[in-house]
Amino acid sequence: MKTLKKVELHLHLEGAAPPGFIRAKAAEKHQDISRIFDAKGAYSYRDFNGFLRVYEAASSVLTSPRDYAGLLAEVLAECAEQGAIYVELFVSPEFCGGGDLSAWRDYLAAMDEVAQAARRDGIDSRAVLTAIRHFGPERARKTAICAAETGGGWVAGFGIAGAEDAGRLPDFAWGFDCAREAGLGLTAHAGEWGGPDQIRDALSLGVSRIGHGISAVHDPALLRDLAERQITLELCPGSNVALGIVPGWAAHPIARLADAGLRVTVSTDDPPFFHTTLCHEYQMLADAFGWAEDEFRQMNLWAVDAAFCDGDTKAALR
Ligand code: HPA
Ligand code: ZN
Repeated sequence: MKTLKKVELHLHLEGAAPPGFIRAKAAEKHQDISRIFDAKGAYSYRDFNGFLRVYEAASSVLTSPRDYAGLLAEVLAECAEQGAIYVELFVSPEFCGGGDLSAWRDYLAAMDEVAQAARRDGIDSRAVLTAIRHFGPERARKTAICAAETGGGWVAGFGIAGAEDAGRLPDFAWGFDCAREAGLGLTAHAGEWGGPDQIRDALSLGVSRIGHGISAVHDPALLRDLAERQITLELCPGSNVALGIVPGWAAHPIARLADAGLRVTVSTDDPPFFHTTLCHEYQMLADAFGWAEDEFRQMNLWAVDAAFCDGDTKAALR
């Protein structure tokens, strides 16, 4: 699986932080976050809300542009190790500088330098600036401003993650309109925990991609709509299995979504939290559905089509 060239569209930067990296930062800053690790040193949580709390506690030790630059370098090196040639990272100015534009510019400058160096080494990347739904629309507005003001280079998109039961997606329309006017690509987490209506709400914001979107499988009319509009699903099967949204790999709706004519792609979401890697995702799908290189190559072509980078970059990725 490592030799297959892969394009990953859905990877949270903080969520890709190895536990050892976070422990080292905590020690450096004399912060005690030992409660978020189990006896083996892995991230430990019981359910999705617990996961979000552990995610935020881990992120709390990342407090400087240097921290984020070091994290990005490690994460991109691991992506390259997994055979990825292009990755889109969800990065949250709400964690990098608290939504302040001037602070965000400092974080971005540090990460941009790392991203350009990694690109020269064969792994290209873009950032999708990501609002956190349970932090509310006001903070999302600041994230959208950061995205609109710094878009065009490494920053290529705007999105929203977090708890789907917090507020309604239309409450965040201002941020999506602002980012669209700035020429950024749009995506939203929807239909991971929530039902088909969450996905319809995401479509009303003008997104071209949906993060997860697995509940669409229960709604034939929505499936037809997603297929007709050529919306791409950023699927993260290992994440869904680890969080208990689906009972196992063979039960994951990815094959049914593909059969319904949807553009399905494969990503890892938050790999160390879910004990997965990009190669592991592909291997588990190969085992569960009998898929081989042809199927995976098609998914990667869809991922390139849906990527938020420019046309020349896409042509090189194909
Ligand atoms: N869902 C929602 N919010 C998140 C996730 C996720 O899978 N990962 C990090 N933030
Ligand atoms: Zn996600």
